[in-house]
Amino acid sequence: MSSMINAAITGTGSSTPKRVLTNFDLEKIVDTSDEWITERSGIKERRIVENGIASSDLSLEASKQAMEEAKVTPEQIDMILVGTVTPDYLLPSTACILQDKLGAKNAGVMDIVAACSGFIYGLSTAQAFIQSQQCKTILVIGVEILSSVTDWTDRNTCVLFGDGAGAAIVQDTNDDRGILATFLSGDGSLANLLHIPIGGSKVPLTEDNIKERKHFIRMQGSEVFKSAVRSMGDATERILKLGGITSEQVDLLIPHQANIRIIEATARRVKIPMDRVFVNIQKYGNTSSASIPIALDEARKSGVIKPGSMVALVAFGGGFTWGSALVKF
Ligand code: ACO
Repeated sequence: MSSMINAAITGTGSSTPKRVLTNFDLEKIVDTSDEWITERSGIKERRIVENGIASSDLSLEASKQAMEEAKVTPEQIDMILVGTVTPDYLLPSTACILQDKLGAKNAGVMDIVAACSGFIYGLSTAQAFIQSQQCKTILVIGVEILSSVTDWTDRNTCVLFGDGAGAAIVQDTNDDRGILATFLSGDGSLANLLHIPIGGSKVPLTEDNIKERKHFIRMQGSEVFKSAVRSMGDATERILKLGGITSEQVDLLIPHQANIRIIEATARRVKIPMDRVFVNIQKYGNTSSASIPIALDEARKSGVIKPGSMVALVAFGGGFTWGSALVKF
């Protein structure tokens, strides 16, 4: 046993809406085909919420599962970190709404806006608060209702996105396991390649600008693709170096699920064979900050991640933001 305080993931949970939207359903909405979507992205279907379901609702379900597994009561939670770009409201934070729904009245609360990297940013923040001994138990969420910011007339984007939430309880431990290293980065000069142009303080919503559909996600897909491949490869290499391990020692790589071709290119670059890479993009599409915690929960519950497993997480998203984490279970 070492005297160092580590931050361990002691419970996970996930929640995806019941409603399934298949590529064949999308063929009826925009000029696309199952063949194009499958070949170009690897996505077969995605989950979409019913009207009225908010990010805090999906987060609540995922959080309860994670808390139950970790045997954590609402009062024990010191901090709630919610990674999302689709909050319930602009004000207050979704973390505040979730705190109330959980009854986690002793928790500090904040949202983290890092798009698809939101969960990695959350894990890194949790690790820092735990290792500095300011917190003992932190609830980290990645949640998106991307369907609420998707332009359902734009085939370039609407075929890619889905809704979902994933949660993790992160707790202090003296054991030699947990979040071994994290790496965070970004490049704000490329903000315009993936953004929601209006609805913030720069261009508040008006009846006229809403008609131009600029309150939905706009993306330059092929530019984002190139940056994603480069940055996810870099971030994976960086985290292995920080953790002092080689790619052979990684039991599982969980990349952000944006496009199967980005995942395969990242795996090739870091020399991790695809049988050690977790993929569920075919079921959920790109759920932004939720994709990694949903995958993490599925990998743990299906037994792919066992006690002792060395797992690398890597994400890239709007901002641009990117980052990685190395976790020993
Ligand atoms: N169905 C049919 N054709 C389509 C569709 C569609 N749904 N969408 C685009 N096309 C067409 C385009 O119009 C284009 O036609 P053209 O050549 O006549 O102009 C053609 O298909 C090829 O388009 P490309 O953009 O070159 O296709 P590409 O191979 O780049 O794949 C994709 C597009 C899937 C969007 C890819 O670029 C991608 O995955 N990009 C990265 C997205 C991503 O990783 N985002 C991460 C962050 S997301 C976040 O932060 C919320």
